Amino acid sequence: MPIEFAARTRRIPVYPLAAGYDMGADVAMLASNESCFPPLPEVVEAAARALGGANRYPDPSYAPLRRALADRYGIPPQRIALGDGSCDILLAAGEALLEPGAEVVYAWPAFSVYPHLAAASGARAIEVPLDDEDRHDLDAIAAEITVATRLVLICNPNNPTATALALDEIEAFLRRVPGHVCVILDEAYCEFALTLGDTYASVELLRRHPNLVLLRTFSKVYGLAALRVGYALCGAEDFRVAVDQVRQPFYLNAAAHAAAVEALRHQDEVERRVTETIAGRIDLADGVRSLGMWVSESDANFIWLHLPDEVEEADVIEGLKSRGVLVRAGASLGRERSLRVTVGTAAENARFIDALGASMGHLVKHRP
Ligand SMILES: Cc1ncc(COP(=O)(O)O)c(C=O)c1O
Repeated sequence: MPIEFAARTRRIPVYPLAAGYDMGADVAMLASNESCFPPLPEVVEAAARALGGANRYPDPSYAPLRRALADRYGIPPQRIALGDGSCDILLAAGEALLEPGAEVVYAWPAFSVYPHLAAASGARAIEVPLDDEDRHDLDAIAAEITVATRLVLICNPNNPTATALALDEIEAFLRRVPGHVCVILDEAYCEFALTLGDTYASVELLRRHPNLVLLRTFSKVYGLAALRVGYALCGAEDFRVAVDQVRQPFYLNAAAHAAAVEALRHQDEVERRVTETIAGRIDLADGVRSLGMWVSESDANFIWLHLPDEVEEADVIEGLKSRGVLVRAGASLGRERSLRVTVGTAAENARFIDALGASMGHLVKHRP
């Protein structure tokens, strides 16, 4: 007789995992919105040093990283949550805030993990369609807030569509949200967003909105995706206390903690990488437009494009894969006939454009 699992395990959607790890070294990995830049040698050394003491549990206060983030953003350490990737904090927020009878509101398509929160807790998910430009429709989201709403998720810039809303629009929205409703502004890609100004601008909103949480990560701009470090800057301490309460005490490993502390010390290099990434995204978008396709206004380290009606998304994905380029299929992210493509090195970006042109030409030529 098979083991009987909780009903929620049947509700939780399977996360669209990246594939292609068996394709060898000559592959352009543009499917997971990672940084194409490896961590700096000083960051690798800091992680290696921490491994030397791996017989001990980490200091559960994670004081050095909390203090470094507090100094950088002017937020008290007690209002900074840390996690095993920002996903960890997101899932903990679902656990701490949601339950049967409660509601969580978010735009769709947005980050693939959001549906997990309602499924795991038994809360109701309200998915609000994006507007015609694949941006959040904040009026429509505000209209869905009821007495049952506990959590609103705004992905800014949005994954997978790469679009961002300006902070004055976000603030006007926040003024309409009742104070007991937690709003998580998921800013995994904020460092790449020209629309948002600098990375301190949204931190200002925390002063006026204690129900606001800014969710950020070391996985993207700091190039530490494999180490899994995320953080949340909170408008009030209670969010940090709640997410810490529902998780195991050692949610961050010591090597990841040391690497993140060191990574924060190299902002000049971070900014140089951002500049290069933005140049790459302009090249990618221009290349896609030159092939006659629509591409959204990107504020992230990836682009989002719509495929023409005469081709099948799966055929394009296969065509790209056969040319050594991995990207993410829109169908797995909530919108068919679209592709999400991470900005890579200049050579990888050029390879993608060539491969896309070749795949499309081939498919259109062989149309029945
Ligand atoms: C919008 C968004 N939020 C959160 C995350 C989670 O990042 P991590 O758990 O690596 O910090 C991702 C990862 O792709 C993302 O796209």
